Formats: sequence, C-alpha cells, structure tokens
Amino acid sequence: MKAAICRRYGPPDVVEIADVPRPRLGANDVLIKVRATTVTAADWRLRSFNLPRGFGLFVRLGVGISGPRQPILGSERAGEVVATGQAVSRFAPGDKVFAARMGDCHAEYAAVREDAVAPMPANLGFGEAAALTFGGLTALIFLRDKARIQPGERVLVNGASGAVGSAAVQLAKHFKAIVTGVCSAANAELVRSLGADRVIDYVTEDFTRTRERYDIIFDAVGNCAFDQCKPVLAPGGRLLLVVGSLGQMIGAMVWSSRGGRKVLSGVASVRTADLLFLRTLAEAGVFKPVIDRTYPFARIADAHAYVDTGRKRGNVVIALD
Ligand SMILES: NC(=O)c1ccc[n+]([C@@H]2O[C@H](COP(=O)([O-])OP(=O)(O)OC[C@H]3O[C@@H](n4cnc5c(N)ncnc54)[C@H](OP(=O)(O)O)[C@@H]3O)[C@@H](O)[C@H]2O)c1
Repeated sequence: MKAAICRRYGPPDVVEIADVPRPRLGANDVLIKVRATTVTAADWRLRSFNLPRGFGLFVRLGVGISGPRQPILGSERAGEVVATGQAVSRFAPGDKVFAARMGDCHAEYAAVREDAVAPMPANLGFGEAAALTFGGLTALIFLRDKARIQPGERVLVNGASGAVGSAAVQLAKHFKAIVTGVCSAANAELVRSLGADRVIDYVTEDFTRTRERYDIIFDAVGNCAFDQCKPVLAPGGRLLLVVGSLGQMIGAMVWSSRGGRKVLSGVASVRTADLLFLRTLAEAGVFKPVIDRTYPFARIADAHAYVDTGRKRGNVVIALD
C-alpha cells in the first residue's frame, strides 16, 4: 500500500509517498480502507520539530533523535471496513468508520482495534468525519473535563478560527456558554457562523486589556501568559493552555495550587466514548468540523506546507481514492 513517510525532521518535502506493507490484521482489529485523513498542527510540529519550548529533549528521546521512529504521521482518519479479525463482533465489511490515534494515519489502510473505532456520523462525508477528532477531542477534554464548563459561563477562545479553536467555539456553545472568539478580521464571519456571540480582532484589540471578565480563557495560540490574562480572568476562572511551554505547564501547577484562578494544561487523550460523543453531536448538527482545503494524497507535502503557514481555517483534509 502507499503511505506518506517522514524519516527525518525537516521542511514539508521530507514527506514522501512510498510503498509499505499493508498492516497485519489482529483478531480484534478491523482493516480500514482509509478514504480521508488530515494534516494537523501536530503533524507540522512533529515533522518540523517545532515544539513548545522545553519539550525538545523529551520528544527526541521518546519519538526519535533525528526523525520520527514511527515515520507515518497523522492522527485521525475515516474510511470503510474491508476485513475484520476473527474476534470482531461490532463491525462488518462495508461499515463506514472513523478513528483517532497519533501515527499511522497517512496511509491507504489501517488495522485498528474494534474498540478504538466509531461508526461515522450518518450526515458527514469522509473528509468531515476524518476531521472530527483533532480539534473536537481537544476542545471537549479541555472544556468539559479540565475546566468543567458550566451553562452561562463566559468563555473566550483565543485562536477561534483554527482546527482546535473552531471546535472549541462550537462545543462551548453546546455547553451553553457565552462565547467570545479571538481571530483576525478575515475570519470573523466564520467564527460568528460557528456560534460566537462576540468576536475580537486580535490585530486591533488586545483582549487582556479590556473591562470584560471571562470564566474560561481557552488559548489555542500559545501567546497567553497567566500574568497577562489574570486581570480579565474572573474569580474562580480557568486559563486553559492548550499550547504551553514546559515552564508554563510547571507554573500552571503552582498557580492552581494557590486556589482562586486555575491554569490548566496537558495533552488531550483519545477515548472511544468521546468519539461516540462527537458522533452524536455531529448527527445532532451541533458540531461540524470546518474544512479549509482538501488535497489529494499525492500532494500531501503541499498540505504540510499550507499547514506550516499557521493560517489555515479549521482543518486540512487529505483525500485518498
Ligand atoms: N494540548 C493538546 O493536547 C493539543 C491538542 C491539539 C492541538 N494542540 C495545539 O493547539 C494549537 C492550535 O492547533 P490548531 O490545529 O487549531 O492550529 P491551526 O489550525 O494551525 O491554527 C491556525 C489558526 O490560528 C489563527 N491564529 C494565528 N495567530 C493568531 C493569533 N495571534 N490570535 C488568534 N488567532 C491566531 C489563524 O488565524 P489568522 O490567519 O486569522 O491569524 C488560523 O486560523 C497548536 O499549537 C497545536 O499544537 C494541542
């Protein structure tokens, strides 16, 4: 099968399409013919080794010194089941499914444990289904599990037009929050269309220097220091550092242990129950991933180059036919 391979850290053209063996099917696995995947900010970070400060050494030791030991990138995919292991009971060939896991997604086939796979929302195509999880799971875990968002809370989403931010705006509205999105003027209409009650253009207004107060600040950009945000964080407020340096993450623990306002960070994990939750929201029309561009598999290096700009609106999809 064809797969996009990244053997060393570097610019987009380190990604090459190559022939690799098809994955072996275990007894509990389904074999998915992948119809769509995405190139995300995580793929950009890993491929280019552009990491938040303080993580370089840990990532080299854990993931690979000069290039990723697992050279097939990607973290989400959607496709059709084409074969099932002997012990599989919930899926059959022909089923349309989606799944999330870092690595192995930029390939024509995937063998995935059946308990890590969810049926595709009936109302989404492969591209949208593939793009459900990167932003969706991150927004869900930070808002629901870390911040314990409550109805009526005032939520500010910094970076509201990216994959994570556009999901956070939609999910915060689902949790009945009052949402302010921070984005450039070019993306204001998009962010409003996702449900934001108010939009701030970061070029003309610094949200940390206003009289507004927020119960939750969701930072998907990485330019929100706690000291800067503190004046606009209401008592009991939570600053969510979706992007943070190692120093900020350690600082988060110190700030949070002092009571009052909290700084919360970490990495979003993948749970199948959450895939099913996102599927339910998608089918109810509450959450729909924003798709910016779709590239054919053969042009995946161009997709990386576009993601590298840091200017994408929502998600960049790769179509495999
Ligand atoms: N902790 C975790 O588990 C976790 C999980 C997923 C992602 N992440 C991290 O979250 C970050 C965001 O990911 P993503 O996929 O949403 O990125 P993305 O889609 O690449 O973000 C691009 C968007 O950011 C906007 N933007 C750029 N500078 C901005 C600024 N100063 N203020 C407001 N918006 C700005 C851009 O809009 P304009 O063009 O209009 O500026 C663009 O729409 C990444 O750094 C990623 O590594 C962390």
